[in-house]
Amino acid sequence: MRIDIISVLPEMLTATLDASILGRAQARGIIDVAVHDLRDWTTDRHRTTDDYPFGGGPGMVMKPEPVYRALDAISDLHPDTPMVVVMSPQGRPLDQALVHDLAAQSRLILLCGRYEGFDERILDRADLEVSIGDYVLTGGELPALVLVDAVARLQEGALGCTDSATDESFAEGLLEYPQYTRPAVFEDKQVPEVLLSGDHARIAAWRRRESVRRTAERRPDLLVHAHLTDEEREFARRIAEGETTHGD
Ligand code: ADE
Repeated sequence: MRIDIISVLPEMLTATLDASILGRAQARGIIDVAVHDLRDWTTDRHRTTDDYPFGGGPGMVMKPEPVYRALDAISDLHPDTPMVVVMSPQGRPLDQALVHDLAAQSRLILLCGRYEGFDERILDRADLEVSIGDYVLTGGELPALVLVDAVARLQEGALGCTDSATDESFAEGLLEYPQYTRPAVFEDKQVPEVLLSGDHARIAAWRRRESVRRTAERRPDLLVHAHLTDEEREFARRIAEGETTHGD
């Protein structure tokens, strides 16, 4: 998968992209990420990428010309047609379903804004606007890194263990079950006995039930789209209404 990122703060991106699983995925050729400085497509002495908003008001607006030139030039760097994604708090909220859709693309171009916003004509070049949450950051760089991280780890071979990307929060529309490692007793806190039993069917059943419990307690909104049996749905309903205790 090829990802091009356009930003006026490229150094903010490169340090993170070269670290950890993202760096390894790049080194192994699983993802090919290129960071571009938007200022390379300015034509004035000051390398200006923003300007005052028509109609007045606070803040600066990202100019369209450098962005158009950057998108034209960067599109030509690779044979695949890119999906152009603009990082914006006005965009579609990023969730695991959208991450899966984006991870299936062969090529993305991510555009990061810094300033109050984009000249609306820039958005004519976008296939999608994406927000990472209902809060406003100083720019699209951190959101772009979030998106790249989430998408990269779904690529074949990016994670050490192939199971880890599927058996996790949101894969089933549920939060993840509690996890424990050694020691079995720590500061008088005992790991649930079932996890030490070696009985894989019982363990799977316990984990599933704890996932449902957690989701009902913490994120009942997710249950609307989760795939639950009738019995699980009834269990979730009782938890949401505060009818059950932890022993259930
Ligand atoms: N740019 C600034 N805030 C953002 C957000 N929450 N999501 C995506 N891009 C942004």
